[in-house]
Amino acid sequence: MGKRSALPRRRIPKVSRIVAIACLLLSLGDKSIAQTPVQTKSVPRPPMGWNSWNSFANIVDSDIVQQQAKALVASGMKDAGYEYVVIDEGWWLGERDSAGNIVVNSKQWPALAPGQKDGDMANIAGYIHSLGLKAGIYTDAGRDGCSMYPDSGPKYLNTGSEGHYDQDFLQFSRWGFDYVKVDWCGGAKEKRSGAVRYAEVARAIQRAEKTTGRPLFFSICEWGSQNPWFWAPGVGGIESTIWRTGGDIIPPVVETLHDPEHEKRVITLQNVLDSFDTGMHPEAQHTGYYNDLDMMVMGMRGMSDSMDRIHIGLWTIASAPLMVGSDLKRLLPATLSLLTNNEVIAIHNDPYGLQPIKIAEPTPGVEVWAKPMAGAGRRAVAILNRTDGGAQVNIDWGQLGIDGVPRTLRDVWNGRTMAASERAFSVPAHDLVLLSVDGEDKKPTEYPANKSEIDGIQATSGPTFARLEYANPSSQVAVVRVNNTSGLSTALALPPTAKSTSGTIGLILPRGTADLRFEAKGVAIRRLYVYSW
Ligand code: GLA
Repeated sequence: MGKRSALPRRRIPKVSRIVAIACLLLSLGDKSIAQTPVQTKSVPRPPMGWNSWNSFANIVDSDIVQQQAKALVASGMKDAGYEYVVIDEGWWLGERDSAGNIVVNSKQWPALAPGQKDGDMANIAGYIHSLGLKAGIYTDAGRDGCSMYPDSGPKYLNTGSEGHYDQDFLQFSRWGFDYVKVDWCGGAKEKRSGAVRYAEVARAIQRAEKTTGRPLFFSICEWGSQNPWFWAPGVGGIESTIWRTGGDIIPPVVETLHDPEHEKRVITLQNVLDSFDTGMHPEAQHTGYYNDLDMMVMGMRGMSDSMDRIHIGLWTIASAPLMVGSDLKRLLPATLSLLTNNEVIAIHNDPYGLQPIKIAEPTPGVEVWAKPMAGAGRRAVAILNRTDGGAQVNIDWGQLGIDGVPRTLRDVWNGRTMAASERAFSVPAHDLVLLSVDGEDKKPTEYPANKSEIDGIQATSGPTFARLEYANPSSQVAVVRVNNTSGLSTALALPPTAKSTSGTIGLILPRGTADLRFEAKGVAIRRLYVYSW
């Protein structure tokens, strides 16, 4: 464990307050542009919670999950918005009964209350719910899954859901699970198409949801092997999803195993940066559809305070899922303070949910990233210093599309308002400064739309922020395709606008000239505003 310091704890907001702030931001509107908030049932923000794999691998059991769920509450993380407790691989080792139902080990998952049966996963899902949290589970889209014990062998076969999609996803939902992570070890081994298989899974999930009336959030985990950023948004008609963009930050570190292999595993800054770098696909990400940079390793062996800041700063500015894979009972106050910082969470939960744009790299390895946020002129800015020496960085606010100087400028780590004229920032070696900025947008280019397409959108200076005003009076997500001149084609999913006449979403157009084609019937595109920074 690196050198750490205890930072003062912050006041922790209730989730409802965060969502209320997010909705308010969305409704603030751009003074120069008539902007109507998206009228969705709730903002499908990137998920936040805990996942068992990084710290417990295949030794996961009912006791561990109960302890971690309790720690999620006691640490203040639940109040900060972390809601899912996800049981990853190892909960099941591949046995089915003659009807094909999953057979669960009764010692690993015993009854937890009178009237319950041993070996019923509804027990643990119910326990998680009793703490006011949501429960997640794991399977594979292929036949065999990844399963090995503890994480390097022997291999257990038949731990995937192939051939049992309807049966398994309905079972997960009936047990009471709210989230399912679907891995790809079996799918990869069988050389399947990810786009086809995950669409089938998505449809099975929706059928299960219809039967039980319980939403089952879909987490795709094929590690970016078949470019999911091109096909995952809206796959199989799903309303919201995340997709992993790369491999695991590190193999699991199970401290209690005292296994020499696990003892050797130490996280490096490069592990975390690699995951961020491979996960940047901003043109695929927008409200409800998120690139997943992997479970977080905050506070795990090898992580220092500054590495924790870089880690959460990058995941937050990228609106990536915040699924913490650490042993929550071992987290130090400094790490917890970062995880529960309400300004961090507000940036993460911004209703546009966009990834940032790299606006400057004054010297190699010193990078300025800016995320456009809902509400006119709002940005989050991360100044990342990957180098071994301290850096002084001057920000040109014009490069963030801001006219003049910001109205307000906040240093997020320290919760302090800075002088709005401030533009020089010091960033220590291997560290990250996170700012939240509020200013006046420079005037965008406006594209009025015809019925089914907008052609020739200029985004020639690099990835470009745009706001799209549309109406989708149906009750279903509508998918629009964005094609650009370099042949890149991404999907944009537009939530229903319900009673409102129009909604607005943020998007990042890929560099070049783009055309928007609307595949969905009944969706009207009102206007597109393109902000060339
Ligand atoms: C893959 C995934 C991990 C974890 C393990 C379980 O490696 O990427 O997140 O689920 O499988 O074996």
